[in-house]
Amino acid sequence: MPYEHHRDTFTVSDDPARLDVEAIHDFLAHHSYWAEGIPREVVARGLEHSLCFGLYDATRQIGLARMITDRATFAYLCDVYVLEEYRGRGLGKWLMDCVMAHPDLHGLRRLHLVTWDAHELYRPLGFTEPTQPGRHMEIVRPEIYKNRS
Ligand SMILES: CC(C)(COP(=O)(O)OP(=O)(O)OC[C@H]1O[C@@H](n2cnc3c(N)ncnc32)[C@H](O)[C@@H]1OP(=O)(O)O)[C@@H](O)C(=O)NCCC(=O)NCCS
Repeated sequence: MPYEHHRDTFTVSDDPARLDVEAIHDFLAHHSYWAEGIPREVVARGLEHSLCFGLYDATRQIGLARMITDRATFAYLCDVYVLEEYRGRGLGKWLMDCVMAHPDLHGLRRLHLVTWDAHELYRPLGFTEPTQPGRHMEIVRPEIYKNRS
């Protein structure tokens, strides 16, 4: 049984079969600041191997949150969005509440995310700036989807 929450005409669901890859790719490739130009097949592969939470107005995909996780110890949150026309009415907060309540994400040792400016969306859920940033290391390739032939 898929994990689902309902509110008015809106649904949050972890059902992979409901994900609209075209709509998600359109947002990420053309309207996100972090994945501009991402190829469709990369989006599809990422969705396939993640715990994804679609946000729907009836059947229309209007948002997403993606957890890359082993469902035991660790999760990395990414690709969180709500389509512009639906923003500012609590759907982003509700989506994130539903994500954090998912049974497969209970009891993890570590959760990570990276954000430019949405810290206040995540802070009430328990996320903080790294307390020991010197312990974190990374490889970042922000230009990876740009200038692809
Ligand atoms: C971030 C986003 C998902 C929020 O969705 P939303 O449905 O508008 O959010 P809500 O209406 O539930 O409100 C979100 C809360 O987070 C706060 N917030 C903090 N930073 C924010 C930001 N950069 N954008 C939107 N809200 C932000 C809002 O002020 C609001 O709190 P309030 O109700 O106390 O004012 C949406 O604005 C979006 O898709 N933005 C573009 C993509 C993006 O930046 N994603 C986050 C990547 S980390």
